[in-house]
Amino acid sequence: MPTGGFSIAAASADLAYQAGISPDASETFGVGEVLTVCPQTNDLLDVCYDWDRVEVPASLKEFERRWGNRSNPLDFSGVWRFRELLPFAPPEQIVTIGEGQTILQTSDPVGRYVGMNPGNLFLQYEGLNPSGSFKDNGMTAASTHARMTGAKIAACASTGNTSASLAIYAGATRLFRVLVFIGSGKIAYGKLSQSLDYGARTIQIEGDFDDALAQVRRVCAEAGIYLCNSVNPFRLEGQKAIMYRVLEGLHWDVPDWIVVPGGNLGNSSAFGKAFLELRQLGLIDRIPRLAVINAHGANTLYELYEEHGLRWNAGRPDQSLIDRFYEKMTADERRAQTLASAIEINRPVNLKKCLRALEVCDGLVREVTDAEILDAKAQIGAGGFGCEPASGASVAGAKLLRAQGVIAPGDRVVCILTGHQLKDPNATVGYHAPQAEASKNPEKPAFANPPLVVANDFEKIMEVIRRFE
Ligand code: F0G
Repeated sequence: MPTGGFSIAAASADLAYQAGISPDASETFGVGEVLTVCPQTNDLLDVCYDWDRVEVPASLKEFERRWGNRSNPLDFSGVWRFRELLPFAPPEQIVTIGEGQTILQTSDPVGRYVGMNPGNLFLQYEGLNPSGSFKDNGMTAASTHARMTGAKIAACASTGNTSASLAIYAGATRLFRVLVFIGSGKIAYGKLSQSLDYGARTIQIEGDFDDALAQVRRVCAEAGIYLCNSVNPFRLEGQKAIMYRVLEGLHWDVPDWIVVPGGNLGNSSAFGKAFLELRQLGLIDRIPRLAVINAHGANTLYELYEEHGLRWNAGRPDQSLIDRFYEKMTADERRAQTLASAIEINRPVNLKKCLRALEVCDGLVREVTDAEILDAKAQIGAGGFGCEPASGASVAGAKLLRAQGVIAPGDRVVCILTGHQLKDPNATVGYHAPQAEASKNPEKPAFANPPLVVANDFEKIMEVIRRFE
């Protein structure tokens, strides 16, 4: 196979394996096993590599050469172009639908809003993926593993994007059938319409995302169905590629900050693992700082990390603190509540992996209100990049960190725009034209751009046009 200047890693089962993230887990598992937790410790699993046996190029610049070889689907993919950095699958088993054609872009209008110097704010616009969100980076990897293990049915719980992504891979490849679990009334229509259209069987649970995820985990374990939520360690392998593309967009220079919305914390966990491995491999000499941004109404990570001081603690985070926090949440009947429905999650399954990422990346966590999220989203839109509300959290978080003096105006800041604007048109119209869409936003929008209602009368229309000039 043509490889653009260096030989492809002979990815095979024996150089990749799965291992529990806790230092108390001693057993390892083959890459062909379908597991989502370590049977020893019940903690999450990582995909690990015997790097000494992987032919990783000496410099990240080598990967760029593959841009010239775009008729090869693996080189065309913005995930598998970096295949030596996630070498768990034999190339002939890889499932790709051309994901990851996303690039890093500068935005001075958005940068001004955040308070950055010109040229210092970057947006990684993952809405341009086949299903319109970053999830495709992970789903190409999970679909590959599903294929490797002969899965016939794959399932996920979702706030909408994971399900849209899984459904598109199943629809395009017909390798497996898909079951999607959603909470009642908690999914934006753009996303729901995708999984219905792509042919996924959708099961609506009377409850929220956290309930739906708990159920799908049980169902998959009981019925031997392949689980595609981010507890699946292979999904996170694909999501590492978002960081490779960010580095590529900066000519392999490491930025000062990565700012990402936090929901189930799969992305932040994957980013931390990407940087940890790149440093281990000697491919970068420094690691950017990571800021994970919660919505105020779904701020478990913020409360645990910033208010209760929960830390990775060399792989032994304070479990009793986590247990007490969740017990109180149950007792108070506390439910996640935010207009950014993608991140309306109170029990993030990747909590511990995210703690590791925060440790690796000298990270921090902030929370932002729905009003801040929607204002940021409107500014991103006015800057020419439509995104869904959850993505606005990254820019709102960067603005907050600038105001707090944590981010300096001359820092190089990358905000991840996780999902496309058309995913949730109700949120956008509700912000700009509350009279058209019963608005749930209690505060007056700062950047509302409502349609002007004019009589069907030429003179009256011209009056409005003259005022516009
Ligand atoms: N942004 C968007 C657009 C999302 O869809 C999600 C998660 C996140 C951010 C948060 O990412 O979970 O890695 O911290 N959506 C999931 C779903 C939960 O079901 O589609 P995370």
